[in-house]
Amino acid sequence: MKGDYYKTKASVEEYIQLAKDVNGKKLIEKLRKVLPARSGLLELGSGPGTDWRLLNEIYQVTGSDNSSEFLKHLRANNPHGEFFELDAITLETDHTFEGIFSNKVMIHLRDEELQASIKRQSQILGPDGIICHSFWKGEGTEIFKGLFVNYQNEKRLKKLFDNNFEILSIESYAEFEADDSLLLIGKKK
Ligand SMILES: C[S@@+](CC[C@H](N)C(=O)[O-])C[C@H]1O[C@@H](n2cnc3c(N)ncnc32)[C@H](O)[C@@H]1O
Repeated sequence: MKGDYYKTKASVEEYIQLAKDVNGKKLIEKLRKVLPARSGLLELGSGPGTDWRLLNEIYQVTGSDNSSEFLKHLRANNPHGEFFELDAITLETDHTFEGIFSNKVMIHLRDEELQASIKRQSQILGPDGIICHSFWKGEGTEIFKGLFVNYQNEKRLKKLFDNNFEILSIESYAEFEADDSLLLIGKKK
């Protein structure tokens, strides 16, 4: 079923092991160029918390996830951290932020869910709010370990974000192999 892989204790433990050497350091360095240190930042889908810990060294970061297993792990390992239970699609929060970051999280949203998320992100950002999101680069969709994965290219991302965000950059980068990923940085219109 959609999303189950991130929801059970066993699979969350497996994912944490598998992803232990992966982090978004290079992406966060790009974000740092457009979003000043100490800004209020929301991370979507913090998962194991690897990127949250890097972001926490620079920003007033709030982590979030829609998986209670990941939230348990995040809270247990970062007792001073702030973590919200949030679905990246609906983003039901009264808080506002200066930036929103995610690393390979919006890949799990279908196009109509992405559209809803993007609109909601613009609502919970202050003026000139910054977004920084990574995607798998490619065509079409697939189910991987029971998880829905939506591949993106530059043209599709421009179309999806254009109503709400000025796109500052869309760059290819290598997660596991050359040009397998895209990083989008945008500013609220
Ligand atoms: C690839 S992991 C992110 C890893 C994270 N960037 C890190 O530093 O390790 C994807 C995360 O997105 C979360 N996720 C997937 N769909 C979501 C949704 N609709 N709303 C919120 N979180 C979601 C999963 O529970 C998982 O924790």
